[in-house]
Amino acid sequence: MKLILCILFAVYTLASAEEDTRSGASISFKNKIQFTRDPAWGTPEKKILIVYYSQGQNTGYIAETLAGLLGADLERLTTRNGKKPSIISASFGLEQAINDLQKNPADYDLVIIGNPVWSWNIIPPVRAFLKTYGPAIKSAAYFTVAGGTEPDKIVKKMEAVCGKSAVSFTGINDADFQEKSGEILRKRLMDFAAGFYQK
Ligand SMILES: Cc1cc2nc3c(=O)[nH]c(=O)nc-3n(C[C@H](O)[C@H](O)[C@H](O)COP(=O)(O)O)c2cc1C
Repeated sequence: MKLILCILFAVYTLASAEEDTRSGASISFKNKIQFTRDPAWGTPEKKILIVYYSQGQNTGYIAETLAGLLGADLERLTTRNGKKPSIISASFGLEQAINDLQKNPADYDLVIIGNPVWSWNIIPPVRAFLKTYGPAIKSAAYFTVAGGTEPDKIVKKMEAVCGKSAVSFTGINDADFQEKSGEILRKRLMDFAAGFYQK
């Protein structure tokens, strides 16, 4: 039953994603909102790496926006042989082989991991990253991007695979990209970032 629901959901979301790309309306405020550091975050600066996988444009947009805000490095995960993740693998909690990274997560004070939710689960390439590099990560924060699944459910799974509790986490909904001013998204990201500096 769950499998049938997953397949139906996949068909629905894939169709929606295609429509967004065509209309170019999914991130309407892209160049309108400004992110600047909050002075309350203070110093010292942390060395931060943002690791993510994105099949569409949403998780990539969040990762790039955070990188600008935090002065962080970016690592976009790519799959071995460019093979697309499968929803079945996501459903069953399987990993998918990823290519070697450009950056070494062990060199960073904080690693932020961005996961587009698939089938109420971690997407397979992000799962592979968490499993492989979790032990070397000093400190972790997580963000999810989803159609509606609650972030805490997915973050719990990410923490378990990575072996690191979140210093901060947030969840972005696809609907946040449609909100014209971008304020909801801005607040989510600023609150998320504030979490790194209060520890
Ligand atoms: C195959 C597939 C399965 C998905 N499963 C879920 C899900 O279980 N829960 C949810 O809230 N969103 C689900 N989504 C929606 C995506 O998480 C969401 O659209 C996200 O923004 C995609 O990120 P991206 O543009 O970086 O790929 C699914 C999307 C796809 C394509």
